[in-house]
Amino acid sequence: MTANTRTDANGVDLDDVGTNPTANPSFTDLIASRLSRRHLFGLGVGTAGTALLQACGGGSGGGGAAFPIIPPAPAPAPAPAPAPSPTPLKLGFNPVAKSLDDVVTVPAGYTASVLYRLGDPIAAGVAAYKNDGTDDPATYDRRAGDHHDGMTFFGVNATNKWDPANASRGLLVMNHEAITPLFLHPKGQTIVGGVRTVADEVTREFYLHGVSVVEVNKNGSSWSYKQDSSFNRRVHTLTEMQFSGPAAKTDYLKTKYSTDGSKTRGTLNNCANGTTPWGTYLTCEENWAGYFRRIKGTDDSKRSAKELASFSRYGVASTGRELWATVTPDTADGQYGRWNTEVLGASATDDYRNGHNTYGWVVEIDPFNPTSTPKKRTALGRFGHEGACLGPVVVGKPLVWYMGDDSRNEYIYKFVSTKNWDAADIGGGMAAGDKYMDDGRLYVARFDEDGTGVWLELKLGVNNITSNYDKYAFADAADVVTNARLAADAAGATKMDRPEWTAVNPKTGDVYVTLTNTNAASRPIGKTSASNPRYYDDRTTANAPQLGNPNGHIVRFADENADPTSLRFKWDVYLFAARSTASADVNLSQLTADNDLSSPDGMWFSHAAPGLLWLQTDDGAYTDVTNCMLLAALPGKVGDGGAKVITNVDAATSTTRTQNTFVGKAPGTEGLRRFLVGPKDCELTGIAESGDGRALFVNIQHPGEGSKKDETPISHWPDGGSSRPRSATVVITKNDGGLIGL
Ligand code: FEO
Ligand code: CA
Ligand code: CA
Repeated sequence: MTANTRTDANGVDLDDVGTNPTANPSFTDLIASRLSRRHLFGLGVGTAGTALLQACGGGSGGGGAAFPIIPPAPAPAPAPAPAPSPTPLKLGFNPVAKSLDDVVTVPAGYTASVLYRLGDPIAAGVAAYKNDGTDDPATYDRRAGDHHDGMTFFGVNATNKWDPANASRGLLVMNHEAITPLFLHPKGQTIVGGVRTVADEVTREFYLHGVSVVEVNKNGSSWSYKQDSSFNRRVHTLTEMQFSGPAAKTDYLKTKYSTDGSKTRGTLNNCANGTTPWGTYLTCEENWAGYFRRIKGTDDSKRSAKELASFSRYGVASTGRELWATVTPDTADGQYGRWNTEVLGASATDDYRNGHNTYGWVVEIDPFNPTSTPKKRTALGRFGHEGACLGPVVVGKPLVWYMGDDSRNEYIYKFVSTKNWDAADIGGGMAAGDKYMDDGRLYVARFDEDGTGVWLELKLGVNNITSNYDKYAFADAADVVTNARLAADAAGATKMDRPEWTAVNPKTGDVYVTLTNTNAASRPIGKTSASNPRYYDDRTTANAPQLGNPNGHIVRFADENADPTSLRFKWDVYLFAARSTASADVNLSQLTADNDLSSPDGMWFSHAAPGLLWLQTDDGAYTDVTNCMLLAALPGKVGDGGAKVITNVDAATSTTRTQNTFVGKAPGTEGLRRFLVGPKDCELTGIAESGDGRALFVNIQHPGEGSKKDETPISHWPDGGSSRPRSATVVITKNDGGLIGL
């Protein structure tokens, strides 16, 4: 979701939400760290840690081993066989210059082709997309959605089974995060007196959110999607989903639609993604809160103190960003009324007072079974899920997923499965998900000022998560996962500068998290911390002030002993985004014109070329100079730089303040290089590669999003002429057939 354009009635960016009122660190608030370094890494290992380490079994876990590790086993799918890659890796292209042009630019020697656009038909008999707002709403459940986002390539073999190494046939599974309504209807959304009066428009919007599963094939040297593949599927806001894990079938999830709390309809604001080692897809529900209607004045008196605290902490506070609840009459099954959180009936099974609780989860989808019912895996917690990156996969060890919560001042989490990985579960579909994702431990990260950190378990009865917590009286395990943000507050997690994607380096096991940006209102100069250390004024070329950390940074950490189940870690800041012209205390990574960037967001490590990192931007601060971009990087490891004290400047008050931090080794052009610049007013997000790494799939989200009604669109990408812009997947190949970026 872009950081700069669609706003609510008060001019607040729909995605720039921040609802964390706690005094959690921000560690300048702390007089001293609660645990000394000796306590962390010395003899004083806590009992919880001991128990967990024992549960791992088999000694210390797989230090430095490559990911994914799926040893040969009597399993239905063959082991991944990454193509040979140069050793050591070396970026092999000339950097692309910053650009404001309405095109996709890639380096010389590469070709970028449009593959899958908003509205493209994915079933036989569905007409080509006219793209003028008149396409039949009933067809949209068989068309590409809008706002392409997180994406995975699942190779498919001749017997229609998962084949991770397949280089010429696969299922491209991608999120469709949100919509640009202006380009979906004849003249944008029809709203009369705050009411959506054209139900057909809303039907389109219901279908355009969610997920696509679409078969893609390589023919000769070019790629295309197969319109009539039996694998093709759209998952959208009307698709039935089951709940599993601690919150399933509890009062928190009961609605008129599901009186036992076992299911809900749909998924939306699907941002980044994730995978499982058994071959399913994870889609993550990010800023879902804004879609729900909340009528505070009349409803507050009908809600408990806990319900009000939960509404507030999750930011369910508006009339609903697309006003879906305003459509009348409602359908018999409540397709519109379900977006209204008001208490209307006698109990929770008579209305949708709990509707908001049914969103904010990680959702598993089996792309190989088009009739399977997706499951919302509640053990992974409910928040603004950006993504769920699978950590190192080791037979006989628990599985781990790392997750960001994308709002300002939110946290970084990990989930560790109770069950140990058994490669016989490859191809196990949703049943494997039941085994590994419904039972485990959920943790939140505390980044300490000394470059270490602690994973705090979110569990009733520990870490201040009790019925006596003064902000929220936790009742049970379902309450903890449903209100994971409040549990993380209680535990004392560290507020971060908007955690976006997570990625795990297969060469080192280090975990990277993009912290896309924050502003002065959300995190003033007095609230910096070692892991969120910068405060500055990033002046635009027109000399407009931008205060806070408008360019963002990328933090990384290494779980102790390279063991993802460890409760301790070491961290540093891999990269500080900045204009190359910024001062030394802002441009801490010494970026140049060849690799400077702002607002890192999408991030993914190649499988075919282990160690190669792709970075994507969702920028609102540097767009006076360049459109959003994709960069290739060859990062080192945690600790390859050193400690540093920087001086922050508050231009508004002319005060300065020092802050210690840990800065990774400056990448130089050898370690970071701009590979692609997108068209006007887009975001680069979502990236995947074919099994051999010789085709790179990249999503261009919302080109021209800031266009104004009744004016010429800002962008006409990808179709050109006077066309409306369309989000689209692009496939990039190297003209000599080689690995991308090297
Ligand atoms: Fe949807 Fe966090 O960007
Ligand atoms: Ca994102
Ligand atoms: Ca973003």
